[in-house]
Amino acid sequence: MKIDPWSSTTYQDYARLRDEFGIEEFTEDLWKDLPHPHKLLRRGVVFGHRDFQRVYDAVKQKKKWAILTGLMPSGRMHLGHKMVIDEVIYYQSIGADIFIAVADIEAFATRGYSLKETKELALTEYIPNYIALGLKPERCHIYFQSTNQDVKDLAYILGKKVNWSQMVATYGFTGTTNMTHIFSPLVQTGDILHVQLKKFGGVRPTLVPVGVDQDPHMRLSRDIAQAHRFYNVTVTKDDKIGVFVKVDEGVKELLGQAEKIIRSLGFNKLKRITDYKAIYIEDARKEDIEGIDQQLAKTEPALGGYGFLQPSATFHRFITGLTGEKMSSSKPETAIFLTDNPVDAIKKIMHAKTGGAVSLEVQKKEGGKPDECVVYELFLYHLTENDNDLAEIYRSCKTGERMCGHCKKEAAHCMEKFLTDLAEKRKRAASKIKDYL
Ligand code: TRP
Ligand code: SF4
Repeated sequence: MKIDPWSSTTYQDYARLRDEFGIEEFTEDLWKDLPHPHKLLRRGVVFGHRDFQRVYDAVKQKKKWAILTGLMPSGRMHLGHKMVIDEVIYYQSIGADIFIAVADIEAFATRGYSLKETKELALTEYIPNYIALGLKPERCHIYFQSTNQDVKDLAYILGKKVNWSQMVATYGFTGTTNMTHIFSPLVQTGDILHVQLKKFGGVRPTLVPVGVDQDPHMRLSRDIAQAHRFYNVTVTKDDKIGVFVKVDEGVKELLGQAEKIIRSLGFNKLKRITDYKAIYIEDARKEDIEGIDQQLAKTEPALGGYGFLQPSATFHRFITGLTGEKMSSSKPETAIFLTDNPVDAIKKIMHAKTGGAVSLEVQKKEGGKPDECVVYELFLYHLTENDNDLAEIYRSCKTGERMCGHCKKEAAHCMEKFLTDLAEKRKRAASKIKDYL
């Protein structure tokens, strides 16, 4: 199986995806002790991650870290698009530097939009909504791929470590795929890694919150980051901690620099073997690897490298469309758009596919199926902040105390309030856009 970031499938079996692609489960210990954990983290909507621990540690130790995500400016912004930005706003509130790429090159290459159209969409749809939803301008940068020279330069330069066979194996490109499309994953790698350049805040943990369809890009970016490192810190066969120089030039200098850093971290039992391009640290343990590696990474730019830490990622589930199929901008009946007139949104909710039984009597007797209900999903993802309230909706649905008609009205009412309030905030957003670009 292949995850295709440009296809229209939704993935249902998230546990299987995790196992097949080596995504880790996003377990409670990763969010429980974060400041006011966000509902998408608490409720299992964010179901998987790669290397989130690195970000978690940065939060806990009050070190600098960054968020980078991208938006594909194609079609109007709907509730599915809202999830990423909800997460971003949360991470901003707990101290992350925020970077948001408008993927205009990708939309141009893969969806047939012109750069002008995508710019228009970003400026009139996505960015005003982001601001209305609560994104703050401080330490927040929104940019367009097509005009960010640093990102494009990185895409070119870093592509050296990837070959055509890898791209075909990862993305299934063929002889008819256009070259801009073929290049777009490298532009995304440029997006993800550029935040660790000195100019943008330097080497630091970076989290990329995305839908699971983006995992191929994450694997590519992580491989490329790793491939550009000068040092590798690892456990050796005989259970020692070893620091290895991966390049062939300047080995002595690199080993010397590493030794200085390792000693400054308090380790003293070092064995340096220049022929192996290695330093073994006899008084270090597995738990020390991460700290040593990060310290070494930070020196690499001064030695002529990049020192990219592998970017971390979280993956969220997709929200189901109101009709039960995928929520999609191209099928307005499946989606609630953030600019929907509340009257239209209410209509769509009243027609939504629920987990209700065939008749009222049966539902009273046997209960509904919230796990198969898109109205319940609306409460879970968007409409209910309080976990107890959500649990009560779930419970009363299951026991047959709650009927779909009433339940939909409740959802519709919450949605109406949300959309009206957002429209009001959006009016004030237009004049603020320049503070973010
Ligand atoms: N490929 C992403 C999408 O289809 C958009 C994107 C571009 C992105 N650059 C990114 C996402 C960097 C995360 C990080 O939606
Ligand atoms: Fe869904 Fe509500 Fe009906 Fe339960 S009662 S199936 S949650 S609409």
